[in-house]
Amino acid sequence: MKPTDDLKEEHNAVKLMLNIMDGICIDIESGKEVKQDHLKDIVEFLKVFVDKCHHTKEEEYFFPAMKKENIPGLQDVIDSLMEEHEHGRRNVRKINKAISGNMNSDDLSTIVNNSRDYVELMTHHINKEENMLFPIADEHLVQRDQDNMLKLFEFVEIEKVGEGKHEEFHKFLHSLKDLYVRS
Ligand SMILES: [Fe+2]
Ligand SMILES: [Fe+2]
Repeated sequence: MKPTDDLKEEHNAVKLMLNIMDGICIDIESGKEVKQDHLKDIVEFLKVFVDKCHHTKEEEYFFPAMKKENIPGLQDVIDSLMEEHEHGRRNVRKINKAISGNMNSDDLSTIVNNSRDYVELMTHHINKEENMLFPIADEHLVQRDQDNMLKLFEFVEIEKVGEGKHEEFHKFLHSLKDLYVRS
């Protein structure tokens, strides 16, 4: 297992969440009632699984290691990826605020607009990481650094997410998939 394999596995979970969010936007727009508890769980997933776990692995360990490689043009790619993480955080803060009250029509449009923006942003972001950065990482990072990074990733999971919580997130993702993802 390489660090990029671990990050790709998490991307797959994030992509499933993006499909769920897409389904929820369609439901809200067609006037269906969406459970506030589901929205709260989604925000929890975006804050903890995506940001605290996945983005911490990238920002604290993966991106700095790639920057050290001094590959022409790569610094700019990494800077843009960092900015995209910030953009996503702004979306999540707005969604979180909108689901915290009584969810009036303004709140619902804030949820839809920011979810759609987030889905578009993260789809592009994940493609950029997987196509522009991961192949370079696989080629340039030496085995020892890759092994160390994987250990640090494990530490992030335990420290930031908590043992067993990863499993819980996967179960929750699959239950929401059945409710909201159109096949
Ligand atoms: Fe990222
Ligand atoms: Fe990523």
